[in-house]
Order: sequence, then C-alpha cells, then structure tokens
Amino acid sequence: MSQRVVLITGALTGIGRAAALGFARAGHAVVISGRHEETGEALAAELRDLGAEAAFIRADVRREAEVAGLVDQVVARFGRLDAAINNAGTEGRPGPVTEQDAESYAATFDTNVLGTLLSMKHELRVMLARGSGSIVNISSTYGHDGAGGASVYSASKHAVEGLTRSAAIEVAATGVRVNAVAPGPTDTGMLDRFTGTAERKAGLTAGVPMRRVGEPGEIANAILFLASDQASFTTGQVLSVDGGKSAA
Ligand SMILES: NC(=O)c1ccc[n+]([C@@H]2O[C@H](COP(=O)([O-])OP(=O)(O)OC[C@H]3O[C@@H](n4cnc5c(N)ncnc54)[C@H](OP(=O)(O)O)[C@@H]3O)[C@@H](O)[C@H]2O)c1
Repeated sequence: MSQRVVLITGALTGIGRAAALGFARAGHAVVISGRHEETGEALAAELRDLGAEAAFIRADVRREAEVAGLVDQVVARFGRLDAAINNAGTEGRPGPVTEQDAESYAATFDTNVLGTLLSMKHELRVMLARGSGSIVNISSTYGHDGAGGASVYSASKHAVEGLTRSAAIEVAATGVRVNAVAPGPTDTGMLDRFTGTAERKAGLTAGVPMRRVGEPGEIANAILFLASDQASFTTGQVLSVDGGKSAA
C-alpha cells in the first residue's frame, strides 16, 4: 500500500486517542495499540468511519514478545511502518522520594522507560531495513524539569528524553528520525488521577503561563508535525507543548 502507516501505543485514551483521530483525518492508515480489546475495537471502528484504514492490536509495552509481535503484525497486515508514536505511559504512584520503593519504581519505569526502549527497538528493526521512518516519543515538562511529589515519573521522562536523543544520533544517517513531544498539563484521565482534586488541578493550571491546561488535540497536532515530512531535517529534538511552562 502507498498510504502512510502509523502505529500508536497507549492509543485508546487521552493524547494517544487524539493522535489516532488526527492521523486518520490526515489520511494515514492507523494501528492503535493498548490493553483493552473492546475499547480498542470501538476506536478502530470510529477511525474507519472517518475513512481511514485502521486496526487494533493488543499489546502491553512492558513485554518484549508482545511489542515484537505488535510490530510484526503491523508489517504483515499493512506492509510498512512510516511513523510510530510511543505514547503509552503511566503516572505511577506519585508521592515524595521518601515514600518510593522498588515496586513504585518498577510500576513507573517498566512502562515509561522499558516500554519506550522496547518499542523503539522493534520499530527501528523495520524502519532501518527500509531506510525511512519517524518515531515520536512522549516525554513531559517533567522530563526536563524537576517535579516535587512526582520524582519517579519525572526521572522516567528524563530517561525518555535521553533515549530519544541517543537513538536519534545512532540512526540519523539512515533516514530514520527520532524526536519527542513534551506536553505540559493536558486534560486527560492521567491529569485527573495525578492531581486527585479540583483544587490541585486548579493549582497546577495556575502555574501554566497561558493559565489553562492543554487539550489532547493540541498535543496531537505537534505529534503529527514531528511525524511528518514537514519535520524532515528535525531529529533528536524535544518539542515542548506546554502553554509556556518550560519558558517560565
Ligand atoms: N496528561 C498530561 O498532563 C501529560 C503531561 C505530560 C506527559 N503526558 C504523557 O502523555 C502520554 C499519554 O498520557 P495521557 O495524558 O493521554 O493519559 P492516559 O489517558 O492515561 O493515557 C495513557 C495510555 O497509556 C496506556 N498504558 C499504560 N500502561 C501501558 C502499558 N504497559 N502497555 C500499553 N499501554 C499502556 C493506558 O492504558 P491502560 O488503560 O491500559 O492503562 C492509557 O491508554 C503518557 O506518556 C503521559 O506520561 C501526559
């Protein structure tokens, strides 16, 4: 097929879902991945209603066999992989450093860091063989700033930025690009779980220079740009989409 094919992990909610809708509207074939069969099939049907070719493939990004199988199934079904959005992520168990332990570390790092690493490994296997492709990882404002009360999450997103830059350098001469988008507070289930109360959400919003949180579609727009040929000379970059938070 000549249509561009995009794979999105953690695609069933929030930013991933908005990106899936955006790629479908832009004429891509969209493979959405996640852990919930029913929600996944429903979103795939919604994408097909927009005129896109779409498929749901179940995978937990912490498991290498599932990630390898996911990428293999994309290629078997669609024949190519042009863009991959490594969006699956978790806020883990927020709280002060003194309350963290090996379990809370693994609950965050296994998805955010190992998941991104395994996803890139298998996506690159396909993209390098073809000599083209674009990977967009999802970091966070906390991926380059400290975050009291969210140290492990912040550390995991720092790791995502390190992985992004390192992988980008490794493959830069091959025609494959690797970038990241770093959202500020964005109106998704994760933000609601992370803040817990309306007061804490309002407090976080007050710290954004634009005085509002982002909409998932606003993050998706930046993801679409980095994935596209419009960003053909851009690699190893982290694009902040955060209402001015990282400029403050
Ligand atoms: N919202 C924000 O304010 C914000 C700010 C900065 C960065 N981000 C980042 O943006 C990305 C998307 O988050 P979101 O805000 O859209 O929240 P979200 O709605 O909770 O989306 C996260 C998605 O990742 C999936 N996921 C979690 N663990 C997974 C695993 N092991 N394997 C496969 N899928 C898994 C979740 O599905 P399950 O239901 O299966 O858990 C969920 O669909 C994340 O990487 C997040 O860290 C968000």
